[in-house]
Amino acid sequence: MEMQKSTPRAQRLVLVPCPCQGHINPMLQFGTFLHSKGFSITIVHTQFNSPSPCNHPEFTFIPIPDGLTVPLATSGNIIAILLAINAFCKASLEHCLTTQVMKQEPEKKITCIIYDEFMFFSAAAANHLNIPSIILRTTSAANFLARITVIELHSKGLIPFPDSVSFDLVPQIHPIRFKDLPISPWDTIEKFMELIIDVHDVKISSAIICNTTVCLDESSLAWIQKHSRARIFCMGPLHKITTAASRTLEEDTSCIEWLDKQSHKSVIYVSLGSIASIGENELAEMAWGLANSKQPFLWVIRPGSITDSDWIELLPQEFREAFGERGFIVKWAPQREVLAHGAVGAFWTHCGWNSTLESISEGVPMICKPCFSDQKVHARHVSKVWKLGIELGDEFERREIERAVRKVLVDNDGEEIRVRAKDMKEKIQVSMSKGGSTYNIVNELVELIMGF
Ligand code: UDX
Repeated sequence: MEMQKSTPRAQRLVLVPCPCQGHINPMLQFGTFLHSKGFSITIVHTQFNSPSPCNHPEFTFIPIPDGLTVPLATSGNIIAILLAINAFCKASLEHCLTTQVMKQEPEKKITCIIYDEFMFFSAAAANHLNIPSIILRTTSAANFLARITVIELHSKGLIPFPDSVSFDLVPQIHPIRFKDLPISPWDTIEKFMELIIDVHDVKISSAIICNTTVCLDESSLAWIQKHSRARIFCMGPLHKITTAASRTLEEDTSCIEWLDKQSHKSVIYVSLGSIASIGENELAEMAWGLANSKQPFLWVIRPGSITDSDWIELLPQEFREAFGERGFIVKWAPQREVLAHGAVGAFWTHCGWNSTLESISEGVPMICKPCFSDQKVHARHVSKVWKLGIELGDEFERREIERAVRKVLVDNDGEEIRVRAKDMKEKIQVSMSKGGSTYNIVNELVELIMGF
């Protein structure tokens, strides 16, 4: 997308990201875009999982106390962490804005607070200080709709649901089955509902920005707009409206040199994002499925992402000997560069929304193995609605994996998926170019903010 520099203005935007990698990235990408439009950007963030300022010298980063105890911060219970942050941080944010941001450069008024939907304390703080606020939703519209359905089903006493209905379709959100509903695995259903009801309670904010695109999420977006008081701005894929990278973990770029040596569209790239983990048995099935497919693979294994091990100690020794030059394992990859590389022909993904969007934007077909929450909704859409990939079954065994890898990369029965993936990439490019849906809406949003 064309980036136009406008005259710097005396307008400051405060951005409040949710402290998870998959949420920090789109917020920083959005900040980079807004900065290119002439706004000053201040990132107010929790001390927990704070973003690295190194890649963004153009922003001001200010940490605020988040009230998390060490046991809670290290518990891995994201629901409890987010509830605690929301209970504590309204006062921290107000204090930061009035004692630091407003005093540092009094000539620059805070035009607007843009906050991740999970940082809803920001809306209350903004309202109290009489500053307009905007929500950034970093997930798909389809998932947003599925979460609304969870709230409705819960209010009718239908959640938790019995195992007997797991594979039944949920009315009105075809093709989501009960087992695909985005329910958090980290805490009780009551705690999850407490969080999600507040996330969806949009009373104060002026607009909602969605990191999705009309060509993917049109019907869900239409439904959401019809039922929403706030205007929806569909601005995705955010990583495509800015050229700046937003790295928070150290990337191993040696994999690009390895990719340079592989044949065109021959490699399967494997990554399960920044949170998901797998057990030893799943690891062995994955490894042998990849090895037996006889296709080259680039595999991101995050330290700590295999249960009970530090890194790759549990990978079967025979497997490590067997794959030789045909495989490459890294702790963290420059994913967007990898997906744009000509040697990558498919992506085995957990279907986090960023990974899904990044893959679709590059026309890379997917093998979906969702782990939790929105990932299950996205896997279902990738495989059944957009038909850009296949979802692995619950059995998760090596022959199924081998077949899936060969299907998306080379076998004739995967040709339709490969063609559709290429077509969808083109549709997204059209939506980002002059006159396209994302291109137009981006400019409307900038006008809205300037008018505050
Ligand atoms: C979390 C949730 O798990 C996910 O369900 C939700 O949609 C977003 O928040 P995460 O699991 O990290 O996200 O997945 P994802 O949304 O795909 O984000 C991962 C990000 O890390 C992507 O932007 C990807 O490009 C990046 N990444 C991943 C790397 O840069 N290198 C890697 O090796 C792996």
